[in-house]
Amino acid sequence: MKFFVDTAEVEAIAELNDLGMVDGVTTNPSLIMKSGRDIKEVTKEICDMIDGPVSAETVALDAEGMIAEGRELAKIADNIAIKVPLTWDGLKACKVLSDEGRMVNVTLCFSANQALLAAKAGATFISPFIGRLDDLAIDGMELIAEIRAIYDNYDFSTEILAASIRSINHMKEAALIGADVATAPPGVIKAMAGHALTDKGLDAFMKDWAKTGQKIL
Ligand code: E4P
Repeated sequence: MKFFVDTAEVEAIAELNDLGMVDGVTTNPSLIMKSGRDIKEVTKEICDMIDGPVSAETVALDAEGMIAEGRELAKIADNIAIKVPLTWDGLKACKVLSDEGRMVNVTLCFSANQALLAAKAGATFISPFIGRLDDLAIDGMELIAEIRAIYDNYDFSTEILAASIRSINHMKEAALIGADVATAPPGVIKAMAGHALTDKGLDAFMKDWAKTGQKIL
């Protein structure tokens, strides 16, 4: 499973990228707002750092506007994936932009039928939002499983990009189901390294090592 980092915070991306953990980045208008940066400037900085796709989201609500904004965002770098919302106009924009050979990430997906339409419209990525479904007591992971089954039934090449990930359990389950990509905040990716038994075991080893009085260096 590929890891995308769901943030516009350049330092956090750089830290994970140095470890080889970053296959791509996703941003959205809320993340750009949180960064306090200019969208083109910060996106360019991220694109220069990362080899993989960097999603930049359009904000127009009509297809024509999304297409124009998508083309403008695509000028930032070759690795831009244009993010459009899963609306009827978003699907129209997806079709036009993907026919032009551009990467398109269709976002705000909350049903398997929406994901089926996005694949038909030529989306490079479909972004089902797990956490926001969980917030409504609907199993977001079940949606990932449904989309996986449908895409496999018909050999769609659209990649399932599990989004709105809130926990390390989401990461594990997305990987078990076979999501192609998971996009998560830096904190969730780093938290995957933690385990209480690792901490406990390390503590015991350190105490026993101190008793030996030995040094390695
Ligand atoms: C990613 O592409 C999405 O914009 C993001 O995962 C949304 O996450 P949230 O529901 O935590 O805002």
